[in-house]
Amino acid sequence: MSTKQKHILVTGGAGFIGSHTVVELIEAGYTPVIIDDFRNSERFIPERLEKLTNQKIIAVDAACQDVEVLDSLFSKYNFEGVIHFAADKAVGESVSDPLKYYDNNLSSLISILRMMDKYNTKSLVFSSSCTVYGNPKSTTGKSVVTEDSIHLNPDSPYGNTKLIGEQILQDWIASSSRSNVALLRYFNPIGAHASGEIGELPQGIPNNLLPYITQTAVGIREKLTVFGNDYDTEDGTCIRDYIHVCDLADAHVSAIKWLDLQTNPGIEIFNIGTGKGTSVLEMVQAFEKVIGKPLSWEYGPKRSGDIPEIYANPIKAKEMLQWESKFSIFQAIEDAWRWENNRPKND
Ligand code: WQD
Repeated sequence: MSTKQKHILVTGGAGFIGSHTVVELIEAGYTPVIIDDFRNSERFIPERLEKLTNQKIIAVDAACQDVEVLDSLFSKYNFEGVIHFAADKAVGESVSDPLKYYDNNLSSLISILRMMDKYNTKSLVFSSSCTVYGNPKSTTGKSVVTEDSIHLNPDSPYGNTKLIGEQILQDWIASSSRSNVALLRYFNPIGAHASGEIGELPQGIPNNLLPYITQTAVGIREKLTVFGNDYDTEDGTCIRDYIHVCDLADAHVSAIKWLDLQTNPGIEIFNIGTGKGTSVLEMVQAFEKVIGKPLSWEYGPKRSGDIPEIYANPIKAKEMLQWESKFSIFQAIEDAWRWENNRPKND
């Protein structure tokens, strides 16, 4: 007897974290359905996912605000749950164009919630960010954060859309919704699938550290600038919790499985990080060790908006989701380096 297919809608499923999550969902026996308007992802990703998983991938080129398309998908697949990645996510761009971020990131979420109510969809995993913690050291005196660490106004409109998104979900659950929500606060996703088939595809000059490092090492960028070396940290550079994107993807599957077991409507927040802090300098040194040659880099001025240090206490995800990160930053760097040398070049 064929097991009932469990369809999961993955919004933004052709993106960096979304595509890696699609692979993990298939490996866990789910049937993902991608909706993506490809504003920040490449149209060749779904076919690469088919090659990687040896499964037909259902991918629809549309925005979450396209109610007609969304309604047809919910009616056709009767989703067990939704994983909502679709959002604009460039911190710097959100400062220069806040209305684009408030409009897209909030209206896409609200469109999904309305459809979940219409079709009585049980589960939602929401992609949030550690950026909602602001600068924890200045409020709690500690750089390690638990889910109830004091919230500050996040330092960008992008971060605000994540905090407001969380508040929308709290109010939605407190109203008549019969759904269950797992709200995942990501730290710093890095790396790529070991196959070399999918990975990070920054548009233009990378904002994030590791893609800038790998592009420098292959000669696309001339030199890495380390933004600031006189922070109040051991080596003077900023500390972050870098997590392998496959560990992060795995956390989404653990969340979907956990939501499936819940019997009453509710919402839970989870830090998805390794629980370890790594400095920029340590990342550079780890990269040079992995590739066996020096990187071209120099110190430069601090980047506005950067906070000195933040990393996760991930104990709640371990205890409630039975999830914890498995890969080291060295494995993530090795996988990111393989991808950089394999990926299509459109820089
Ligand atoms: C990491 C460190 C930089 C580039 C961002 C988003 C956050 C979340 C994760 C989505 C910082 C330093 C970087 C460079 C450098 N995204 N750096 N030279 O800023 O911690 O967080 O990604 O949820 O919302 O803000 O990540 O990779 O940009 O920077 O020295 O060329 O690397 O100063 O200390 P960040 P990042």
